[in-house]
This record gives sequence, structure tokens and C-alpha cells, in this order.
Amino acid sequence: MDIQILPLDESNLKTPPTDDFGFGDKFTNRMFSQKYSPEKGWHDAKIGPYEPLVLAPSTAVFHYAQEIFEGTKAYRRPDGHINLFRPWENMKRFNVSARRMAMASVDEEAHLSAIARLIEMEQAWVPTYPGASLYIRPTMIATDPALGVHASKSYLHFVILGPVGPYFKQGFSPVPVYISDQYRRAVRGGVGDAKTGGNYAASLFVGVEAQAKGYSQVLWLDAIEGRYIEEVGAMNICFVYAGQKIVTPPLTGSILPGITRQSIIELGRDLGYEVTEEMLDVHQMLADIQSGNITEVFGCGTAAVIAPVGKFGFQDKEYLINDGQSGPVAKHLYDELTGIQYGRVPDRFGWIMTIEAN
Ligand SMILES: Cc1ncc(COP(=O)(O)O)c(C=O)c1O
Repeated sequence: MDIQILPLDESNLKTPPTDDFGFGDKFTNRMFSQKYSPEKGWHDAKIGPYEPLVLAPSTAVFHYAQEIFEGTKAYRRPDGHINLFRPWENMKRFNVSARRMAMASVDEEAHLSAIARLIEMEQAWVPTYPGASLYIRPTMIATDPALGVHASKSYLHFVILGPVGPYFKQGFSPVPVYISDQYRRAVRGGVGDAKTGGNYAASLFVGVEAQAKGYSQVLWLDAIEGRYIEEVGAMNICFVYAGQKIVTPPLTGSILPGITRQSIIELGRDLGYEVTEEMLDVHQMLADIQSGNITEVFGCGTAAVIAPVGKFGFQDKEYLINDGQSGPVAKHLYDELTGIQYGRVPDRFGWIMTIEAN
């Protein structure tokens, strides 16, 4: 891929924050973009100023949500260089999502080298602040300016970067989670296993309901029986039995195949835990919390890495996990995983791609 580098307006440059990172609302000075048309394929690849997109009101993505995205992070190593964590998996999942949404696929290697080039140019934005990182958001949108309900012929693919602070500002603190017995995030055969905006739009209504009841995340159940546990918020979920066995639901089609989830399966086994993928009935799970069989519950995903769950609320009853405290397994996995990501722990799995800083 030939990437054209456009100049920035030097009189109007933002400087990276050093401690006040906000909540995904700060972005670097540059972005990557390229366009797709059936005649030209992918073309017009460039790294230029981060700037508004100009699109006709009829643009397909605004009406029928044909869009996909990814989320990964760049981490500052103790030696000053920059780590990406399993970025190949994000490139692969981007194309899996593209296929499911009937969109053009991208060359995975070219996509990753465009991201690496962009990060190299914006390296001053990879924070040195403990627990902070540079969030990477590749996106693709349908750009046909027409209202017919069909797969767009033209697409815009772009990558933006923004510094994000530590997820847990007051330490590794557990979150309260609401179990909706009425609303579902995704259904098998639908698009729950693609990273597409509609899944998140569908989750907002229950998110508001959960917040109003004092919970910060929603536990999603399967849409067919309303019984099997799928995900928590925008994270996969793991349960710890007797402090030794880690169980996560299998990828049945309505669950996003998380890269953190896959890493926990591989890392957990390497650390000596028994890790299995099993369908979990919500009623059995709550009974296992009450009996003490389940000793910890945690969400896992790029944003938090690991987010311990302190309690569940279900049908006006509350279920406290480990007395509302985070547990040793979550902490162990969190320390190991973030250790590898930030380059404090040797990468024995080949998960890291390092970008040399200068
Ligand atoms: C719905 C959903 N589930 C799970 C995850 C976790 O995926 P990953 O570990 O690749 O970030 C995400 C993204 O963070 C997500 O949006």
C-alpha cells in the first residue's frame, strides 16, 4: 500500500495530555484513511490531519448502519519502545466483521503496517503515565450516497488514535452488574459476533435502565431461551470456581470472540488453572454464587483488561460475589496480562509487536 503523507497545519497542533486523559474524547493530530470502490479497489491511502468527514446526508451508513470497527491499544514499554498486543487478531476480526456486514475486506498486513506507521508518527501520544495507553480505533463505513437497502459499493476505512487513562482510577475495584430478564443484546444467526455499531446501539436502552438502578454494566443472556450467559457490557465474562477453575461461555455465534478472552484461556492454562468453555445457566450461576462454589466473576476486554464483578442484581434480588471484593485469580491474570502488554513480563506467547520509538 502506498500511503500519501499530508502535511499538518503546524500553527494548530494539539499536544498530548500527561495526566488528564478524559474518556475517549481526545485524539491525535493525524489519522489514516483509504477509500474503496469496485472500479479502483482500495485507493487514496493517506495519513493526514485528524479532521471531520464530509458526507452527504443520504450516505448509507447513517441509515442502515453498515459499519464495523476494531479496538486495540499501544502500550509504552519501560525501555521507551511501544507494544501492540496481538494486533494480527484485530486485523483478522476486522475482516470477519467486514464479511458478515457484506463489506469490502482489507489486506490485513497492509492494514497493520498503516497502523504501525501512524503510531510511529504519533508516538509522542503513547502515554508514559502508569496504566495509560493509546487507544487505536480502525473503522469502516458504507459511503454510497443512496437510500436503497443493499450492500454499499463504496467504503471509507479510517484509523484514529486517542490516549486513554487507567480504567481503574481507584484501584482494582469491582463493578455492580444488572441482569436484564427482558432485553437481549444479540441473537444466534444475527451479528453479535461481528464488531458492528448496531450491537452497541441495541445495548444502550438497558444500559440506561441499569444505571438508573445503580448498576454500571449489564449481563447479557442468550436471546433464544433467555437463560444462558453470554457477555457483560462490552466484555466477555469469566467465572472462577473454587479459586482454581475458570469457565467462560463458548462462542455460540452471538458472542464477540474477544482477544482478551482468548488470551485468558491460553494464559490461564499456562499458569496452571483449569480453563473450560461451558454454557452457563443464569439460575445455576446465581445458586453457585450463593453456595460459594463461584469465588470470583470478572469481565474481560481491551478497555479494562479485567473488570471484577462485585455483585449481580436479578429480579429485585442481589447476589454478592466474594463479599463484593476483587479476588486473587482476577488480580493474578490482570498482573500477568498487563505485564506482557506493557513489556514488564517477557512475552512467552509471541503476542507482542514492538514499534521502535525514536
Ligand atoms: C461486545 C464485546 N464483547 C467483548 C469484547 C472484548 O473483546 P477484546 O478482548 O478483543 O477487546 C468487546 C470489545 O472490547 C466487545 O465490544
